[in-house]
Amino acid sequence: MSNIESSKRDSFTSKFGIIAAAAGSAIGLGNIWKFPYIAGENGGGVFLVIYLIFIVLIGVPVMMSEFIIGRRAKQNVFGAFRQLTSHGFWKIIGIMGVLAAFLILSFYGTIAGWTIEYLILAIKNDFASKSAEEINTMFAVFSTSIIKPVFFQLIFMGITAYIVIGGIKKGIEKYTKILMPLLFIIIIYLDITAISLKGGMDGLRFLFQPDFSKLTARCFIDALGHAFFTLSLGMGVLMTYASYFQKDTNLTRTSISVAGTDTIIALLAGIAIFPAVFAFNAEPSSGPGLVFMTLPNIFKLIPGGYIFSILFFLLLGVAALTSSISILEVVVAYVSEEKNISRKKATILTTILITITGILCTLSFGPLNNLKLGGFTIFDIFDKIASNILLPLGGMLISIFIGWKLKRHIITEELSNDGILRIGFIHVFMFLVRYLAPIAIFFVFIHGMWELLIN
Ligand code: TRP
Repeated sequence: MSNIESSKRDSFTSKFGIIAAAAGSAIGLGNIWKFPYIAGENGGGVFLVIYLIFIVLIGVPVMMSEFIIGRRAKQNVFGAFRQLTSHGFWKIIGIMGVLAAFLILSFYGTIAGWTIEYLILAIKNDFASKSAEEINTMFAVFSTSIIKPVFFQLIFMGITAYIVIGGIKKGIEKYTKILMPLLFIIIIYLDITAISLKGGMDGLRFLFQPDFSKLTARCFIDALGHAFFTLSLGMGVLMTYASYFQKDTNLTRTSISVAGTDTIIALLAGIAIFPAVFAFNAEPSSGPGLVFMTLPNIFKLIPGGYIFSILFFLLLGVAALTSSISILEVVVAYVSEEKNISRKKATILTTILITITGILCTLSFGPLNNLKLGGFTIFDIFDKIASNILLPLGGMLISIFIGWKLKRHIITEELSNDGILRIGFIHVFMFLVRYLAPIAIFFVFIHGMWELLIN
């Protein structure tokens, strides 16, 4: 997406296409795999409340900010700040973004690899004959082994690189428009079954009834980090997409619909998973394996479960892919443009490096599980540094740039499409990006760091 050659700039003819691509980046493993497990680790309902507040008050304004910068500058993150300001300082957003992208794609490949394994298990109809216990054991055995998880990670990274080199993204996006609504429908079907499970209501209560006595500093920092992660914010991905938006794209409405769709998918995933957690006696806090240990139990029960399990893991893989290509693009754009290497070489080189660090993440569930820092495995550390530190800091700088640095008339022009749209909300928006977002991020951050240090 970050080809900045002007000849390619007109490649998005359909307005819906590029918006679908932005939504495709946002909707991914974050919604279906990460949201439930991180909510489960942080007490459920109380996490949900904080997370929703952050999405609305910080996520949406930061997304609008990325859109404003991207569409105005019509460049990727480095070029954009170079064009809009003479000060070299803002380059830091791009640099932190590249680092975050590197770390995120490392562990993203691990989980995407798991998804491929589960697709194959679904095709082999391996869930049908297994009890809930056996399904747990199956996950434990698989995720702690070496060959298979690494092999599937390599496959996924290969496909990601192939798409980024081959420029067949437009084809992918065409299918995304059909496939993502299909994923949506399957999840709703899972929801209906999950809710009617014995004990299902306990799961819903866990997710929707906040118990504020469980509120911790970690809950705040995880919720903030996840708000950025799930919306693909804080490292200039959406800035790059917005550089392809058309003049009449309504930036405010687009932000709200991308954030809204993303949140709805996460909630629907939670509504399928938590009832199953309680019905099949799993632990809400069992970590990254949560989805893989719970959903197979639902597929066993539903009519057409065999077909739906295949479709589900296939579509989850596709959702992961439309996100992973957006992450790899960030690194490739940086290496190819700043270091003057051809796109193809840059893609191959960065994919190899990311896959190597990625294998460490994969093995941190098995042989490297004892390699810990402050109780966190390599996988956890990559995630925390990227999601909880780099992305929020990037978001903080982006909102400060819009709130304090960029000329007000540019903001008004972009949000109103040169005076065509009414923007009565501009004062609220300015308040959020000038004060609320940066200050809130700062406090959550300091609080989280403090907590980490004293523990
Ligand atoms: N949002 C994606 C998900 O939820 C992951 C992702 C894609 C991402 N691009 C990103 C996260 C950029 C942070 C920044 O799965």
